[in-house]
Amino acid sequence: MTDMFRMDKPQPRLFDETVQGVIGKPLDRPEGLLKVTGRAPYAAEVPEANMVHGVLVRSTITRGRLTGIDKSALEGLSGILGVIRSPEFVRNSAQGMANEAPIQPEDHVAYFGQPMALVVAETFEAARDGAHRLRLSYETEHAEIDPTTTSEIDTKPDSFGDLDSAMAQADVTIDQKYSTPGQVSAAMEPHASIAWWEGDNVTLRGSYQMLRFNRNELADSLGIDPENVRILSPYVGGGFGSKLGIGSEAVAAAIAARELGRPVRVVMSRQHVFDMVLRRSETHQRLRLAAKADGTLLGIGHEDRVSNLPGEEFSEPTAMATHFMYGGENRLYNHEIARIHRTPSGSVRAPGEAVGMLALESAMDELAEVAGIDPVELRLRNLPEKHPEKGVPFSSRRFEDCLREGAKEFGWENRTPTASRREGDWFIGCGMSGAGRANMLVPSEARVTLEGDRAIVETDMTDIGTGSYAILTQIAAELLGLPMDRVETRLGDTRFPGASGSGGSVGAGSSGSSVFLAAKKIRARLAEAMGCAEEDLTLQDGIARSGNIQKPLSELAATAMTEEGGIKPGAMGKEFFQAGFGAHFVEIGVNAITGEARVRRMLGVFSAGRILNEKTATSQCIGGMVWGLGAALTEELQHDPRTGGIVSRDLANYHVASHADVPMIDVRLLPERDDQANPMQAKGIGELGISGAGAAVTNAIYNACGVRIRDFPATPDKII
Ligand code: MOS
Repeated sequence: MTDMFRMDKPQPRLFDETVQGVIGKPLDRPEGLLKVTGRAPYAAEVPEANMVHGVLVRSTITRGRLTGIDKSALEGLSGILGVIRSPEFVRNSAQGMANEAPIQPEDHVAYFGQPMALVVAETFEAARDGAHRLRLSYETEHAEIDPTTTSEIDTKPDSFGDLDSAMAQADVTIDQKYSTPGQVSAAMEPHASIAWWEGDNVTLRGSYQMLRFNRNELADSLGIDPENVRILSPYVGGGFGSKLGIGSEAVAAAIAARELGRPVRVVMSRQHVFDMVLRRSETHQRLRLAAKADGTLLGIGHEDRVSNLPGEEFSEPTAMATHFMYGGENRLYNHEIARIHRTPSGSVRAPGEAVGMLALESAMDELAEVAGIDPVELRLRNLPEKHPEKGVPFSSRRFEDCLREGAKEFGWENRTPTASRREGDWFIGCGMSGAGRANMLVPSEARVTLEGDRAIVETDMTDIGTGSYAILTQIAAELLGLPMDRVETRLGDTRFPGASGSGGSVGAGSSGSSVFLAAKKIRARLAEAMGCAEEDLTLQDGIARSGNIQKPLSELAATAMTEEGGIKPGAMGKEFFQAGFGAHFVEIGVNAITGEARVRRMLGVFSAGRILNEKTATSQCIGGMVWGLGAALTEELQHDPRTGGIVSRDLANYHVASHADVPMIDVRLLPERDDQANPMQAKGIGELGISGAGAAVTNAIYNACGVRIRDFPATPDKII
């Protein structure tokens, strides 16, 4: 067992100045060339010998019970090997960081499009043909599918002070309703798994975010020991939350492979992913703001309704950011979870902030206007000294600098009053919003081996396109004094020490710290070999130096040195509130004739502790801002009013922002260190960029043409 470093006290600044010249630098990803040349394969692209193919069959009813499977239409088809039906693989995906697969009663259908059976054949084409021909019969039950009308609602109220009196005493108030549609992750790589057995051991090559947990979930589904499960996920074509938990295709592939005694590959089509993975819940929100004439908040109310299947634990934590962004003593929340029969809802990038801040930051814009205060200034006047509900200080927070520096760089002072700028058919306007996303530390372990002047990093961390390979390589290279190409980072294999996984923006800080701690132990051994104190040791380009002694690592580590490092949360997570902060600024054009909104420029300024790689961190922010733009203007899941099934279930009908929609996006990362976060002093950045971004877009629309969007997305029909 690795000794786990507990994060109980502030951590000193170490390696603040780069010696090797790698940490923090905007370096290319070590696997970048493989990715852009198509040589970093997706899960489905590494076939096993003797492999067969499975295609999932989906439910065509919304709720009820499976009563029969009619295979007659498959008889005589060549290549069909079987129809696998097991209650285990219809379980819904977990949310990540679970150790058990959620239970679902046998033969029960809970939503339209739920995976029901797997047809396996020698070829993918035969399996797909068989899946289309298979006839399932059901006994149907009444299903509630509309979150606004269902009567089955769980309620979680919470309050501080008295919001109603604050509203009554306030000089200015806002009381508005906002709604956001369902969304999906739409990762580039659809879910896919290849499973094969050797005796009692199953290996799964799949596309997952949190392998340590996924292994336990799969073992639980199969009723076997986690020791008998190995998962390989070296390259992942995006996740955004959709691959946090093990999916039905993985469990189905493993069951079929066990029954048939051959490797089985199950690849989801894009429609499968929409139907049966996870959606972000739609939200209905009410925001109340009570403020004095100078804009200082007396209170905030954030009530919301989201939805999920009956019995599911997760619910979109809509008010997440409202708890800590702005002050005001009187605060009220009421979180309602409508129990309906739609595809289960789960984590999608920045669960909570991504949609909750659309409402919060829109309401702040509305308050700024009513109070006659500049929107940047209004936010500056409402920065709480401590967490307004927990009463603990912020570990670090450069929100004020993000607002001020962003406004300066963007040229915010040139913004004119609503609907005063017009260029031809286009109204031009500017909008802004705040950004915030809580930071967490999750247990994570890694192993580092130094042999001569080469190092190997091993951990079951994933790289879902975020840059894990790059930053972990940089951390080991910096600490061991090696050029990047002398360090090989191996990820995505449950045989390696268990990592945090990629989710909740915890990966860089958590897994980065584990690599840091392991490499630091090797430094201590090198110092001992040099006969010097650790502080007096300098490692650079494969040479160890102390005073006037100098030795090559090839000599010092002629015999391989291996160390493990591990970290887990401690008191710091409770004594301070940790979050990344930022500010978004948008200039938009709104067509006076068509109502089309075109973002013209976008700036995001963020502070998220130590930046481990300026390029990958910037890319994360840009990606998040693009999604914010999509959430503001185009993205929308649509459900069939008869079945609750998703009808906008491909990338032609579900409109993610594409190149033509996205202007130049500028990102600034402010220098910061957070000594309460982790030894790397880094905070999460993967979900910060989307937080608040869409509200800056719709606030800009208001400034351009005077149309206030409260029902997202801002499609032309709502603007014209
Ligand atoms: Mo993220 S939604 O925790 O992958």
